[in-house]
This record gives sequence, structure tokens and C-alpha cells, in this order.
Amino acid sequence: MEYPQSRILVVDDECEQRDRVGALLESWGYATLKATNGSEALGLLDSEQVDVVVTDLMMPVMTGLELLRSLHERGSAPPVIALTAFGGIEKALSVIHDYGAFWFAEKPVQPEVLRALVERAVTQVRLAEENHRLRLQLSQQGVLDELIGNSDPMKRLFATIRQIAPTRASVLLTGESGSGKELVARAIHKLSPRTKQPFIAVNCAALPETLIESELFGHEKGSFTGAVERRVGCMEAADGGTLLLDELAEMPIQTQGKLLRVLEDRRVRRLGGRTDFDVDVRVIAATNRNALDAIRDGRLREDLYYRLNVFHLALPALRERKEDLPLLADAFVQRYNLQHGCKVSGLHPSTLERLYSHNWPGNVRELRNVIEYCVVMTGEGLIYPKSLPAHIGDGGAPTIEVSGESETVTLPFGTSVEKAEEALIRLTLQHTNNNKTRAALILGLSTKTLLAKLRQYHKGHSMAADGR
Ligand SMILES: Nc1ncnc2c1ncn2[C@@H]1O[C@H](COP(=O)(O)OP(=O)(O)OP(=O)(O)O)[C@@H](O)[C@H]1O
Ligand SMILES: [Mg+2]
Repeated sequence: MEYPQSRILVVDDECEQRDRVGALLESWGYATLKATNGSEALGLLDSEQVDVVVTDLMMPVMTGLELLRSLHERGSAPPVIALTAFGGIEKALSVIHDYGAFWFAEKPVQPEVLRALVERAVTQVRLAEENHRLRLQLSQQGVLDELIGNSDPMKRLFATIRQIAPTRASVLLTGESGSGKELVARAIHKLSPRTKQPFIAVNCAALPETLIESELFGHEKGSFTGAVERRVGCMEAADGGTLLLDELAEMPIQTQGKLLRVLEDRRVRRLGGRTDFDVDVRVIAATNRNALDAIRDGRLREDLYYRLNVFHLALPALRERKEDLPLLADAFVQRYNLQHGCKVSGLHPSTLERLYSHNWPGNVRELRNVIEYCVVMTGEGLIYPKSLPAHIGDGGAPTIEVSGESETVTLPFGTSVEKAEEALIRLTLQHTNNNKTRAALILGLSTKTLLAKLRQYHKGHSMAADGR
């Protein structure tokens, strides 16, 4: 791919230095822009496209460090190479770690060092652009991070995720089990400026009160029976990053009160501790219950709900977006081919039809498991309906129920007339121990018609087994 000429901004108050660095860069084919201090540089960065910044640190008006800090705070800044007259490894590390510089070089900078650094920085910029372009392309084709879906509700969800991810706002995720709440939380984290910081998920349902509080806020040694060591809680551990509070409505109500205070104050105190710690955590809460019902039943604090519900993302159930089935199924086929060393090429249209007629109470997780099963069962080639677990899309198997003396044929709701007739004939035969004359008599058919129907069923089934 052809890239445009890279543009390097050179910031130095000394004219001679600025020109020397600028001339070197231009001799290597870069375009240059020049500024005499940090604030002039910021002005240029606002109005011009800049790929890399090469800056002096000691300058009047606004120093290089101040420039680095403002760029760091902006989040998406170009890589900065800091040049400074006074060296030392500590200074270098601080410029890189505390101020987010790309790299550091001592003045006067050796041309070959500068060239190598600028080349590396430009490569990083191009890779990031390429990555962004690919992600955008993928999201338009129905993929956002690990989330897959090109139905209208999923497209809307992806757009909202992209919009809210860069902010610090709390998010409430609701949706049935297996609909992708945790995946959405991870996508929000990954698309946010916090992506390099921790993502921590806590399941609020799994633990009793003291333990959930210790899990969230941490504890000091001896703060309760069993607290043998000091422990850092998830709030502290997720500092700078994102915390997913899973199954929020199951959190003990007293803990909800404490959590609310921590969220309001952005300070946390370990159980049994005396000092508060500042925490900067983005909170995402998830629940598969109806949150308003939980508030009405007194299990979820209304004030906490409103604190967390800055954005509410309601994930659609899979049955409400069955048009996503082909894309999801294909993605899972590929995933499980790799995982199990299989060579499955896809789903036969009749298999897909069965997937469409299933209700998917377990949502995408259920589909994922079904496809894994099919991939393993099939090994290679197309997946035919015979590889599907029996309950998928056949409306449930007709049965004879025996209760006391009487026997009843049960046909699940949704069974077609054709299927009902076949089931009735087969179950009657089962009842008569395969005596066809008696079965025909019970069913009110001539034996000849019964035999014709059986032959027809037999033919149909061997065709289905062949996958035709
Ligand atoms: N949109 C999606 N695209 C791809 N995979 C998905 C999607 N949604 C869910 N999955 C799959 O389903 C699994 C379950 O999703 P997830 O754990 O996010 O559900 P959940 O809503 O948190 O469920 P629960 O309420 O049971 O915790 C995921 O690990 C993933 O494999
Ligand atoms: Mg979950």
C-alpha cells in the first residue's frame, strides 16, 4: 500500500537546532513543520496533520514536558521523540513512562539515531492506522472486537459501543443469559483509552456479603475471621481500567450502599483499613434480570441503578435477530475447525433452516455450543441436519405418554400436520407392536394406504440422511 509522505513536527526554541533537525528529516524524505515552543506545537497539532513529533524539552512559554503531558491527556496523540541536553536513564524512563513519550535521545542527536527512531515511530503510526482501518472495515461487516452480528439491532449496538467507549461514563448492560453482556463489556474496554489498563470482572452473585465486600474493596489482615493476609480489592486492582460488576441485582443490598459511596467519592477503603485510596475506575454493570423489577422487589437500590445507568445497552436475544445466524454459525465453524483440527466447510442450507426454527433460549452461547458439537461430529465437509443435537429445530420429538392405564400421544406445539400424521402412524405402530393391520384399523386407514405412507417416510428419511 502507498502511504502519503509522513509529516514530522520539529519543536525547538533554538533556530539552529530546529533547522538542523528539519534539514536531516527532509533529506530522508519527510515533510516537516516547525514550532518554537509547546503551545505553538499544540496549535499546529490542532490544525495540521502530524505523524510524529520531535521535541526539545527545555523551552520557554511551554516546555517539552508540558507539551508531552497535554498530549498524553488528549489520549490520541502522535508519537513524540523527546530530545534533551541533560541525559540519564532515570530522566529517560520518566519521559517515557510518566509522560508517554515514544522514545528519548540525548542532544546533540546523532543523525543515524534520529533516523532510526523516526522510522520506528512512523511505522507504529502506519500500523495503528492500518489496524483502525481494518477494525472499521470489520465492524461494517458485522464484527466489533469479539462481537459478531450484522442485524439492525447489532449494528445499532456496535455504533453505540463505538460512541460511548472513549468516555468514562458508566454503562448498564441488560440481556438474557448468553446474549453477550460480558463480550460487550470487554469490547467497551478494548475500544477505550483504558485498553492497556486492567479489565476486571466480578460476579456479584457468587459470594456472600463479607466476601463480596472483600472482593470489591479489599481487606487488611485480621479485618474478619479468615482474613489472614492483606488483600487488594477489585476496585483498586482495576484502577485506571474497567470493572465489570456482573449480576449486579444479586449483590447484597448493604454492599450496594457501600459501592454507591465509593462510586460517588471515587475513593475506596479496604475492610478494616484506615486510609482511603483514590481510584479511577470505569464501571460497567450487567444483569440478566429486569432491573426495574429488581428495584420494585427491593433487591436493587434505585440510587445505585441511576448512578450506573448513564448509558443503558439492552442486548437483543438471538431469537429477535435470527438474521445473524449464518454469520455467527460460520464464525463458530471457523473457530472450532481451528480448535479441533477439523475441516468443516460450512452448513448445508437445510441445517441452517433448522437453526432458524429453533428458539435459542440460551442465545449465542447455546448456538456456539451447538456448532462446536456439529463441527466435531462432522469432521470435514458440510454440516447436515443429522449432526444437530436432536432438540434443535425439530420442535421436540413426539412421544407416547403413559399415565396409569391410559396412553396419550403428545405432539409439541409447532408440529406440522405432515409431521403430526407421521408421528401418529409411527407411535400407533409402536403401540401395536408393529402390527400394521391393527394399526391401520385404529387409524382408520386401509392397510394399503398405511404401507404406502410408510414407504414414503422411509424414502424421505434416507434422502435426508444423505443430506440431499
Ligand atoms: N455477538 C456475539 N458474537 C460472538 N459471540 C458471542 C456473541 N454473543 C455471545 N457470544 C458467545 O457467547 C458466549 C457467552 O457470552 P457472554 O458471556 O458475553 O454472555 P452473558 O450475556 O454475559 O451471559 P450470562 O448472563 O450467562 O453471564 C461468549 O463467550 C461468546 O462465545
Ligand atoms: Mg456474563
